[in-house]
Amino acid sequence: MELTIESQPFTNVSTEALVTFVFEKDEKFEGALAEVDAATGGRIRELAASGELTGKHLETTLIHNPPGLAAKRLLVVGLGKPDKFTGRELLRASGAAVRYLKSRSVRRLVVLAREQMLDAASAQAVVEGLLLGEMESDIYKTDKKNGKQIEAAGLVGWPGEDAEKGKSIGQVTAEAQNFTRSLVNEPANKMTPRILAERAEAMAKESGLSVEVFDENTIRELKMGALLSVAQGSAEPPRFIVVSYTPPNHKGGAPVLGLVGKAVTFDTGGISIKPSEGMEKMKYDMAGGATMLGVMKALAQLKPAVKVIACVPATENMPGGRAQKPGDVQFAMSGKSIEVINTDAEGRLILADGLTYARRLGCTHLIDAATLTGAIVVALSNVNAGVFGSDQVFTDRLLASASACGEKMWPMPVDEEYREMIKSGIADIQNVSSGKGGGAITAAMFLKEFSEDTPWIHLDIAGTAWLDDAKPWSAKGASGVAVRTLIDLAMKF
Ligand code: BES
Ligand code: ZN
Ligand code: ZN
Repeated sequence: MELTIESQPFTNVSTEALVTFVFEKDEKFEGALAEVDAATGGRIRELAASGELTGKHLETTLIHNPPGLAAKRLLVVGLGKPDKFTGRELLRASGAAVRYLKSRSVRRLVVLAREQMLDAASAQAVVEGLLLGEMESDIYKTDKKNGKQIEAAGLVGWPGEDAEKGKSIGQVTAEAQNFTRSLVNEPANKMTPRILAERAEAMAKESGLSVEVFDENTIRELKMGALLSVAQGSAEPPRFIVVSYTPPNHKGGAPVLGLVGKAVTFDTGGISIKPSEGMEKMKYDMAGGATMLGVMKALAQLKPAVKVIACVPATENMPGGRAQKPGDVQFAMSGKSIEVINTDAEGRLILADGLTYARRLGCTHLIDAATLTGAIVVALSNVNAGVFGSDQVFTDRLLASASACGEKMWPMPVDEEYREMIKSGIADIQNVSSGKGGGAITAAMFLKEFSEDTPWIHLDIAGTAWLDDAKPWSAKGASGVAVRTLIDLAMKF
């Protein structure tokens, strides 16, 4: 999709569809809305009076051949109540506009700003909404129903500098998020640990990032026993992917942000095998790893002041003849022994070695992202990602970035009482809780153990990384959650 910034008056913009927004109870019809209404010969006001146009969030009203506009159509998208308006509503309304228009074979559109959204952050939200809404999850359909692409999208009505800034950051961010989504959408036969590593290498080379991929032999030499224990049940070898970005004037002693992402390219549960119903969805169990790769892709272009290293342990979790068994004891890279009570709690095993390796590389701050537990879905459903952290200041910064990016994330507790529940009778720690409930928290406590004294945040995205159904603003499948938040955090670090 080609993105442009239009500088002529919006009435003169000749395009297939001009898109603008209306709030609920927007009856005052001031500013741009009054001008647009006048350009339609008062049709918007008429539709509002009749009750057809209410401004409810994501409501779409299409007006053909508006008399005072050079555009062929005017699409008015609802933004909901003005006092609840944030970038999240704007991003989704923009995504809904793209999806509405492309399903009607429109290929070119221009978005007109309202006076409530004239800053760069709003222009960015619009661009992100357009690009995220444009992406489909149909690459394996031979008859592409949704294949009609939007060819060009423009912004009009924003101050030039804000439009430029919003456009460039929004484009980099959304393309990175779509890169993550495209990795996560792949079925497990097309996205093995080796293929993921190749995709990471290709992305890093294209972006000018450093990349290293460890094969099974190097992983063994590094003594990543927890990762190997998960991989041993599979015919596909594991990989450990390291992608790094170093700012031009990086000095020793400066902070280093470590991003550790779970990449289980398929999770059968291993010997503690999962029920067959819904198991096909476990191809998205590599979303945490894909998130970190997407973030790195964006940072290569946005060039934050902080050094950032992504560590992505990648493996399948299979019940092969060599698979680990419940009760096995494994030694993690850190030297700690782990009793594997349940082979389906494999994400925390591979992340244990990922966190240890990131610390060895000198990371001073750690963030992991993982589709870690079904329990986070029980706690927060598909609405919020769970946030666990060992350092309040660091965690608050992440939560601030999440809210700035319109991503819902909710803080969860990490009290020592939960640590008691993963004490093992025969090893240093066990991989599941012996207590009742709190499964997402005890999983986090396991990871915390391997972050040791390094400030650490864990994002459990099991409930938010995948959309079972299409939304007005998004195709179904991978959501790319947390990519925007982590980019924002790194840029402000
Ligand atoms: N990959 C799953 C978690 C998951 C569940 C992701 C639902 C996405 C949707 C993880 O490896 C797992 O199996 N966790 C177990 C842990 C349990 C055995 C303690 C779970 O949540 O059931
Ligand atoms: Zn599992
Ligand atoms: Zn898993």
